[in-house]
Order: sequence, then C-alpha cells, then structure tokens
Amino acid sequence: MRIAITGSAGQLGQALQLSLGDQELLLLDLPSFDVTDHSQMSQVIGDFAPQVVIHGAAYTDVDGCELQPELAYRINALGTQNVALAAQSCSAAMVYISTDYVFDGTKGEPYWEWDAPNPQSVYARSKLAGEYLTQTLLLQHYIVRTAWLYSRGGKNFVQTVLRLSNERRELRFVTDEIGSPTYAPDVAEAVTKLIAQPVYGIYHFTNTGVCSRYDWAKAVLELAGRADFPLFPTSAYKRAARVPARSELRNFCGATQLGITLRPWRDALQDYFRGS
Ligand SMILES: NC(=O)c1ccc[n+]([C@@H]2O[C@H](COP(=O)([O-])OP(=O)(O)OC[C@H]3O[C@@H](n4cnc5c(N)ncnc54)[C@H](OP(=O)(O)O)[C@@H]3O)[C@@H](O)[C@H]2O)c1
Repeated sequence: MRIAITGSAGQLGQALQLSLGDQELLLLDLPSFDVTDHSQMSQVIGDFAPQVVIHGAAYTDVDGCELQPELAYRINALGTQNVALAAQSCSAAMVYISTDYVFDGTKGEPYWEWDAPNPQSVYARSKLAGEYLTQTLLLQHYIVRTAWLYSRGGKNFVQTVLRLSNERRELRFVTDEIGSPTYAPDVAEAVTKLIAQPVYGIYHFTNTGVCSRYDWAKAVLELAGRADFPLFPTSAYKRAARVPARSELRNFCGATQLGITLRPWRDALQDYFRGS
C-alpha cells in the first residue's frame, strides 16, 4: 500500500514508520514539507497518489497554541484542510489524528466516540476544526483520538519528569488532571490494523486505565529506579490553557467492530523503559 504520513518526524510519525515499514511510504514534515502550504501539499501528495494519508502533523504545544491562536488554526485547521483536499484529489482515505482534549473532561465517566465535544482551549478547538474539515471534505476518513502520547526520544511528560528529576531536588505534579498515558508505538500498531479495513469512522485509541499526572510521574520514577526521589502531589498549577480534568476515552468502535484493543498503560510504560 502507498501511504503518506504527515508529521513523520514526530512521536507518532516515527512509530508509524516502524509499524508500516513494509509499505511504500511518503514522509512529510517540516522543514521541507509544510501542511500550511496548500499548493505544495496538493502537488507532493498528488504526485505520490497514496491510497491512505495519515495526518499526524500538528502544532501540539497546548499552551503555545493559547499564545499563538492564529498559528494554531493555520496548522491544525487549515493544514488539515490542505491535506484533506490533497487526499480528496487522489481518492485516498485519510486518518486524522485527534485528541481527548476535544472533550471538556466533566462527564465523570469515559467518553464514547460519539459524545459531543466541548473543547476548552485553542489547541482543542483547532484540532476539533480539523475533525470537522476531515468529515466535511472526505467520505473515506478515520478520526483517531488519542491522549497523553509519549515515545522514546520524543518531547513528552516522561522525558520531562526524567529531566527535572536530574535538575531539581523535589518535584510536584497535579492529582486533579486525569488521563491515559499512551505509548505512541501502541497507537501506531492500532492505526496499522485500522487502515487495513475500510471501516471508516471515529476511533478512540489510548492505552487503557487512567491516572493523574502525579501517579504517572511516580510510575516513571519507580521504573527509572528512582522511587525514593522526593515527589509530592499538588493541585495548584497555573498554565495558559484549560485542560480537561478527566478525559478517559472509551474504545468502543475499534474493539467492537475490528477487535483492535490497546494494553494497560503501565504495561506499555514498562516496555518504554525496556527500550522495546
Ligand atoms: N502529544 C500528545 O500528547 C497528543 C495527545 C493527543 C493527540 N495528539 C495528536 O497526535 C498527533 C501526533 O502527536 P505527536 O505527539 O506525535 O506530535 P509531535 O511529536 O509534536 O509531532 C508533530 C510533528 O508535526 C510537525 N509539524 C508541525 N507543524 C507542521 C507543519 N506546518 N507542517 C508539517 N509538519 C508540521 C512537527 O514538526 P516540529 O517539531 O518541527 O514542529 C512534528 O514533527 C498530533 O496530531 C497531535 O495533535 C497528541
């Protein structure tokens, strides 16, 4: 299969390259390829004529999006429009990678794929705009919402905890932000299975189970052999963006329709530390 991947140098993009290694891939990322350039996307994707486009490129700095809303909408909304139009012109299916942040986090139980979004930040609104553009422009689309991504070498919470534990004497993380830490290679594997079947729709792919940022940091330090590092719970953390208090996603469609399930988050985190 010919597959174009945007955001190919990012956490998920690199994991997709490994998982789809036996396919013919077109890798698109900055600085050579910019999803905000409509004519470039149209030409480069049109020339490759993929059967599937996996659109993972995004402005993923959630607080940065709050400070630069025009840039956020240009990349996450208009960039998605450009990629979707390019996919449309060569009759390719598209996978749009979206986020748990499209929900407000107040439901008190896991979100189903068809629960109504209520984004609370510029990042979340711009990603939801990308969902709507994908749905409007393409019949053959998969929307894959994931959450709290990490992988080796990426910029993510696990790396931040490890770095800060070398720089500071103690660390504090919030207990009132709950989500599902998700290993990018697991999402890549799920997406690889997904695109093998033309069962288009919305999917929730995260590792299973939830924890707070504090619990996650604790697990990271334990697995790094630093269980005795001074770590404290807090609920006071000021940041530019509002983020969901509890954004657990229920994987109903993937599990029920296609038998695609992801493992518990602690099992995946162990693999991260084993280097596999
Ligand atoms: N990270 C998370 O916790 C998380 C959670 C839920 C959903 N998601 C979604 O999952 C997807 C993948 O996330 P990730 O963690 O793999 O992100 P990532 O590591 O930040 O990768 C995103 C990639 O997109 C590139 N990019 C940014 N602007 C671009 C542009 N205008 N044209 C082309 N490429 C551009 C980035 O390049 P630069 O690094 O040079 O900017 C980066 O290589 C994103 O769509 C994100 O919204 C992420």
